[in-house]
Amino acid sequence: MSAAPQRAKAGAEKIEVIVSAVLPLNDLVTRFEFKRKDGNRFPTFSAGAHTVVHMRDGDRQRLNPYSLMSDPADTETYAISVRRDDEGRGGSLFMHNNVKVGDAMEITYPVNLFSLDLRAKKHVFLAGGIGITPFMAMIAQLERSSDSWELHYSVRTEALGTYVDQLVSKYPNKVRIYYDDQSQSINLENLLDGQPLGTNVYVCGPKGMIDWVHKTAAAAGWPDANVHSEEFTAPQPGKEFQVRLCRSEKTITVGENESLLEAMEREGVDAPFLCRGGACGQCETNVVSSDGEFIHRDHWLEPDEHGNKIMPCVSRFIGKSLEIDR
Ligand code: FES
Repeated sequence: MSAAPQRAKAGAEKIEVIVSAVLPLNDLVTRFEFKRKDGNRFPTFSAGAHTVVHMRDGDRQRLNPYSLMSDPADTETYAISVRRDDEGRGGSLFMHNNVKVGDAMEITYPVNLFSLDLRAKKHVFLAGGIGITPFMAMIAQLERSSDSWELHYSVRTEALGTYVDQLVSKYPNKVRIYYDDQSQSINLENLLDGQPLGTNVYVCGPKGMIDWVHKTAAAAGWPDANVHSEEFTAPQPGKEFQVRLCRSEKTITVGENESLLEAMEREGVDAPFLCRGGACGQCETNVVSSDGEFIHRDHWLEPDEHGNKIMPCVSRFIGKSLEIDR
């Protein structure tokens, strides 16, 4: 197998892959592994990176971001873990129900919006549920460089503790598990209090957990720059709306169950993205005119920018007319 010339590419640049393993881990989570279709090696990625998986679901194209959780040094295989969301828009269900070993798919080049601060003296990871995935890659990276880390991982039940056995048996002194159904919870004040100067904290999990960690750390005097989080917002359904795309000279309808970004893609309009979850800023688009209200769900725009700009991956519109610069 020969090594491909590796260029740094980002966002919508795609790699053709073959699904090499589908491994159900518990009732909700399945691990998917990919090899490159051309037999070459993948680009190395930095821990915390994600990829966007393209799913061909009949006439519909689904694009979902997932954290890469394999060892970043392993350029033969990329791995993701997908939590089935029965109430979601169908991407995770498609992965669980349709994707089989041997299938050809496309994924984007890795993009990192949740990277390790390698200047840190120590790294403290706080994971909730499927939020464990970026930390699997971070742990592999830090073990190789012999950097200091510890993981506090909150799961609902023992049966849903994705990768718990593997983590506890490999790193018994660095990993602590908290079971919700046994009323165990992270004592965050104590945990933050006992850390050496120069420690960085990383949180990935439900929004409530992320907000709690930021708030608690700020109250304890931690600098913002030492507290890292990753939160992608899944596009939410809403009322259908129309939008005029000035540069493309098209008027399109955004359906109840699709995002503005997805509607533009469906109509063949070139629209940039990296995260598809309101976190990266890549899809930011100027509003030319509007008569109505926006529902902004991004973590990117400042409050005073809302209305002049829109994030097509997550934001919606309710009103009479909307024109955007796309
Ligand atoms: S694609 Fe990242 S904010 Fe929209």
